[in-house]
Amino acid sequence: MYRTHTNGELRIGDTGKEVVLSGWVQSGRDFGGLTFVDLRDRYGITQLVFSMDENPELCSLARTLGREYVVRVTGIVRERSNKNPNRATGDIEIDVREMTILNASKTPPFTIENESDGGDDIRMKYRYLDIRRDPVKENIIFRSKCGIETRKYLDGQGFIEIETPFLIKSTPEGARDFVVPSRMNPGQFYALPQSPQTFKQLLMVAGMDKYFQIVKCFRDEDLRADRQPEFTQIDCEMAFITREDILNTFEGLTKHLFKSLLDVELGDFPRMSYDEALEKFGSDKPDLRFDMQFTYLTDIAKGRDFSVFDTAETIVGICAQGQADNMSNKDIKTLTEWMQRPQIGAKGVIYVKFEHDGTIRSSVGKFFDDAALLEWKARFGAQDGDVLFVLAGETEKTRKQLSELRLEMGRRMGLMKPGEFKPLWVLDFPLLEWDEEAQRFFAMHHPFTSPKKEYVDQMKSGDFETLKRLKADAYDLVINGNEIGGGSIRIHDRDLQSKNFDLLGFTKEEAQEQFGFLMGAFEFGAPPHGGIAFGFDRLCAVMNNQTSIRDFIAFPKNNQGRDVMIDAPSKIDDAQLDELHLRLKG
Ligand code: AMO
Repeated sequence: MYRTHTNGELRIGDTGKEVVLSGWVQSGRDFGGLTFVDLRDRYGITQLVFSMDENPELCSLARTLGREYVVRVTGIVRERSNKNPNRATGDIEIDVREMTILNASKTPPFTIENESDGGDDIRMKYRYLDIRRDPVKENIIFRSKCGIETRKYLDGQGFIEIETPFLIKSTPEGARDFVVPSRMNPGQFYALPQSPQTFKQLLMVAGMDKYFQIVKCFRDEDLRADRQPEFTQIDCEMAFITREDILNTFEGLTKHLFKSLLDVELGDFPRMSYDEALEKFGSDKPDLRFDMQFTYLTDIAKGRDFSVFDTAETIVGICAQGQADNMSNKDIKTLTEWMQRPQIGAKGVIYVKFEHDGTIRSSVGKFFDDAALLEWKARFGAQDGDVLFVLAGETEKTRKQLSELRLEMGRRMGLMKPGEFKPLWVLDFPLLEWDEEAQRFFAMHHPFTSPKKEYVDQMKSGDFETLKRLKADAYDLVINGNEIGGGSIRIHDRDLQSKNFDLLGFTKEEAQEQFGFLMGAFEFGAPPHGGIAFGFDRLCAVMNNQTSIRDFIAFPKNNQGRDVMIDAPSKIDDAQLDELHLRLKG
């Protein structure tokens, strides 16, 4: 027998019991006649004691144990004289009577403790050792629970889980596909799904009106902390529903997950249109843990011979409450330089400081007297002690830049409190996005998204400017400024779908060749339908106040898209290339 108990299980009430434990050696300490060993497994750590007086042979063996050795011990549970209140098993220890070394271990390349000394790369290379550490292990366990609670909830709502294929034809979601060569069909390739989008719609045509799947998706895109080339979605689709049904169902799922996993009650989720989110926060995923909404000065700040303002389409700012004392001129200069980095690209940042004694200091004193700046103050609803930051320029760009500044000020002012959760539905996204470079429209969500009902006629016959303003029946769930999920009501009418492909620049032949299967299905009684997908890795990370999804994935890729543990991607040999018809002959 390897164990009667786990290393996280024994308590003072177990005193006197003979137990068998197995696990890894976390650390050892010798004190004269006694040797202490901490034994670890997934469940916790238990202290073992070996006595030189009572059993010199066993105690000597214990002194030879290295870190991460795998051992099995038999011993008696006894009360500890110096208890460790930070450990669940801290009241007891095991007086060891027998020990078997099940396996030796090389010295691990980094310390397997909560605060490891290992850098990212080395921990990724030895991921199986990293997972032995609590912070990673807890995340992986959390993920498992989150998946199970998701299944419970959706099952309770009558959803069925259906697997869809991984070897498919490309589904355009805006990223590049990973492709897989077909040995049996020379010169042809499968694509790995960016999402099961078309399949879940076909399942609606098939009558499976409440589908879900916790599913791997693959996207060959540039990686960031919240993006992996293979990631997981909680993917869903429903038929005979309206947008309300979808929002309610997935608001319900989100509340269930927060309640069951974190004991957090989320109130009803506020909603905001895409246009309103951009106007007030400069972002379609605003972090609502703090307010700091945009205030516009365009109508009152022009015409003072300040060319930066006079030539700007938009003049807009934020008010950092109570920051006048905290922000020296040097701080403002550093902040301005931070805003001027190419990643953000602001030309400059204008500030107005309202000191507590009523003095006003600003970077535009030459153009605006105190009376004018007091007018700004009133517009912002600012108080003495506040600082205004104002940007000017082209509307879209300026809002985006100010959104970055808002987030930075939120961080500096400690307004993004961990443990506080602010969900938000963002609704009514544009249907189409014009790409100046490619000189064509792209679907803002994906090509299967329906325009809102009131825009269908305009979509069929609108001119360029009208098309740019079409609204889609598309929605995102945002939590604390992270896009957790997105979905839409779909087009279920063949002709409207065909029209959408037209607008997206597909010829009739291209549309038929790529999506004939879907449009064909729409001719066999496609029900009205819609759906949503949550980023599962992201949801887990956000629920745990973390920005990187990597540590919620057992075996993630690094920023170059590599698995450094198994060393993938890698070369394949010529014979394999030939078999796949990938080597140019001659
Ligand atoms: P979308 O492309 O918005 O929608 O994806 C849904 C959610 O998946 C997550 N996500 C990612 N997570 C980690 N790494 C990535 N590379 C990555 N890309 C996306 C995000 C995102 O909100 N088929 C549609 C859904 C639908 O319309 O029903 C879709 O895939 O959290």
